[in-house]
Amino acid sequence: MTDPHLGRIVVTEDELQQRVRELGKELTSDYGGRPVLLVGVLKGAFMFMSDLARAVDLPVEFDFMSVASYGSATRTSGVVRILMDLDLDLSERHVLIVEDIVDSGLTLAYLRKNLAARGPASLEVCALLLKEGLQKVDPDIKYVGFRIPPDFVVGYGLDVGQRYRNLPYIIEYTGPDAE
Ligand code: IMP
Repeated sequence: MTDPHLGRIVVTEDELQQRVRELGKELTSDYGGRPVLLVGVLKGAFMFMSDLARAVDLPVEFDFMSVASYGSATRTSGVVRILMDLDLDLSERHVLIVEDIVDSGLTLAYLRKNLAARGPASLEVCALLLKEGLQKVDPDIKYVGFRIPPDFVVGYGLDVGQRYRNLPYIIEYTGPDAE
């Protein structure tokens, strides 16, 4: 099915699967058997988190958060609001924030500060995609899947106007702003 709003494939399905396996090995080794709480940022991170969780050989707990940032469909304003909060208490837990994509870094900066204030034993970030050169704040991300050019992309959980999340690769979106 050809879609005129989609451009070139930025990360193929094979590249995604291979990199997720590598990240899983790295996490398995770094956490050395310690249990880790994966905090998925909905909705975009659901597919990455599901694959990543299966690639780590560690005792894993899951929790999810949903945030929205004010702005247009393709631009973040940096003002973030929590739509759905975590169930679990973070104290004494090794928390890994699992993010789909870091663009300006403002959403992540907000999340990190918010979760750090809850007293976790450790707090790290694993982001599938990092857009090169766009961060307004130092994102300080320990685990990065791919560094990509600053184009708007969809697929593998990422959407525009709730579409394209089910594509098994990351592809450039060239259509109109969905909102
Ligand atoms: P940031 O706060 O500018 O880093 O934006 C992060 C959030 O904006 C991500 O969690 C996504 O929800 C969304 N986002 C940023 N860039 C893209 C993109 O290229 N495709 C889909 N969503 C994006």
